[in-house]
Amino acid sequence: MNEESDRKVVRGLKDVAAAETRISYVDPKGYLYYLGYNIDDLVGRVTYTEVAYLLIHKRLPNRQELDEFCTDLVSEMKLPNAMVRCIWDTPGHVHPMDVLRTEVSRLGEYDVEKNDLSEAANLRRATRLIAQVPTIVATLHRSRIGQPVPVPRKDFGFAENFLYMFKGHPPKEDEADVLHRLLILHADHGFNASTFAARVTASTNADMYSAVTTAIGTLRGPLHGGASEKVMDMLNDIGLEKYVDEYIQGLLDEKMKIMGFGHRVYMAEDPRTKHLRGIVENLCHHKRTLDLYNKCIKIEGIVHERKNIYPNLDFYAAVAMDAMGVPKEFFTPFFTSSRIAGWVAHTIEQYEDAVLLRPSSKYVGEFGRTFVPIEER
Ligand code: COA
Repeated sequence: MNEESDRKVVRGLKDVAAAETRISYVDPKGYLYYLGYNIDDLVGRVTYTEVAYLLIHKRLPNRQELDEFCTDLVSEMKLPNAMVRCIWDTPGHVHPMDVLRTEVSRLGEYDVEKNDLSEAANLRRATRLIAQVPTIVATLHRSRIGQPVPVPRKDFGFAENFLYMFKGHPPKEDEADVLHRLLILHADHGFNASTFAARVTASTNADMYSAVTTAIGTLRGPLHGGASEKVMDMLNDIGLEKYVDEYIQGLLDEKMKIMGFGHRVYMAEDPRTKHLRGIVENLCHHKRTLDLYNKCIKIEGIVHERKNIYPNLDFYAAVAMDAMGVPKEFFTPFFTSSRIAGWVAHTIEQYEDAVLLRPSSKYVGEFGRTFVPIEER
């Protein structure tokens, strides 16, 4: 008998508070706060750039600070030429998240101030990462369609430049508005799996690029940010709205997960859903694809009625990105292009907390086994 056997395991770390944070609060009752601001008060009223500033500086910027931050971000959107070549050389079958994970790691090799771990240097590094992740995503997309990436324009905001670089033409006002909303809604979300992974890495005093690389690998999984791609597969598989009931019931009968539904924390509707549902309704209305919107509403109703669970961020975000012309394998990279702001904010907060995140485990293996040399096995 060992004292380890008395340890209580909290499976999946459910409800375990691993650290204190001031950055965001996911309220199980169905609210989300960034630095104390309810997201409902931010979406549609601020730009994504303001939210990124809020997350890393822990307060909203004034006009001058915002302009300077936006200028810094846009001027940092350039990648080293060698990296652009690497991205172009990536085989077309490689998933964009794999490329993104590798290229963010590679960014660390080009950090001009890698030995400076001061708070000021970390803020500069955070700003560069917020700027460069979208550039990697845009460069990869453009390379896959054999097109060059436009040079960011000083007369465009940061998010507008991301869309400009991704699509290759200046964004229309309504497109940019949707992008800001999408990016704001994806920017941070408490101690979700990828953020926690980033904080674990940062807690060893590893560099910010390592923390973000860890986070990207974690976000990629279909139970986390990878779900959006699976949502699109499901919507395509279902076909017409009249097949929704049978299809969903089939998944439930097989005890399969419905992608884009359910949440570890929210007991009520995910507060991001109402914004995304509205975005999708508008986009489908303009694109005359309301049948798709109606199909989503029907899925939502049936899943809620039969499992009492709600759509999460990924359900309507997938449809919104699809309507914006983002290829489905780029859904999670788009998510990453926003969540990077949350990850770097949490990495900085973790450095400030200065404690190693290292849980224990409950050992359930054997003791006292008799060793047998390899020749006798
Ligand atoms: N489809 C069907 N049933 C689901 C479900 C889903 N998407 N999500 C949760 N449930 C059910 C489970 O089957 C379980 O039911 P049971 O108690 O009858 O066995 C119950 O709800 C609890 O689910 P569980 O998987 O234990 O919750 P969790 O907190 O561990 O998981 C998620 C949370 C997000 C991983 C889970 O909801 C999921 O896998 N969703 C689909 C993937 C997804 O959309 N991920 C993006 C998250 S933002």
